[in-house]
Amino acid sequence: MEWMIDTANLEEIREAMDMLPITGVTTNPSILKAALPFDYEQRLREIRALTPGCSMHVQLGSEACEGMLREAQELQALLGDDIYVKVPVTEQGVKAIRLLKARGVNVTATAIYYPLQAMLAVSAGADYLAPYCNRMEQNEIDFGRVIGQIRDMIDLGGYASRILGASFKNAGQVVRAIDSGAHAVTVPPALLKSCLNSALVTDAVAAFTRDYAKVRGER
Ligand code: E4P
Repeated sequence: MEWMIDTANLEEIREAMDMLPITGVTTNPSILKAALPFDYEQRLREIRALTPGCSMHVQLGSEACEGMLREAQELQALLGDDIYVKVPVTEQGVKAIRLLKARGVNVTATAIYYPLQAMLAVSAGADYLAPYCNRMEQNEIDFGRVIGQIRDMIDLGGYASRILGASFKNAGQVVRAIDSGAHAVTVPPALLKSCLNSALVTDAVAAFTRDYAKVRGER
């Protein structure tokens, strides 16, 4: 099981890295926009520096294959050859995934809503597949079923691609994605922390703390 954080906020990244068993960090242009103002390249470098040993997944901004290939090269020059470039699974995207994989670039196929999209990305060689759970739910697509179908196809074919559940807005969606077969999830840190800080948990701990003081005696 892999836990990634879906944010470009440096403070959130620092705190999550300090506390949680994080294996990667993901962004997209909208996540980066929410963290403005900053210099784009500098922010990516800062995220990289804060997450040693973690995979870094950065989305390409171009819609055309040629632009994606060029951008992937620029990102590798900026952040290192081991970054994962996030490629939306469109016609141009599938073409780009094939070409990027032929060049040995790590690829996270993103903006996945349909099993067929995922299957094409797997055949093109994508390392990770990011199905958009909340967005599917908002469009009455059963994301748990979609993840299950993708997982069955991966297991049946013996493919190495891993499902990275994405686009989460509540804890229940995260649990369902994992339960349905996601190998990894990328979650906003605040959402990961919400279950650790729920009143049920903190009230139970407060009662134990009070009782501990009584059984040990005030010292
Ligand atoms: C992952 O990296 C995705 O881009 C992200 O989780 C999408 O989330 P959203 O649906 O909240 O924009």
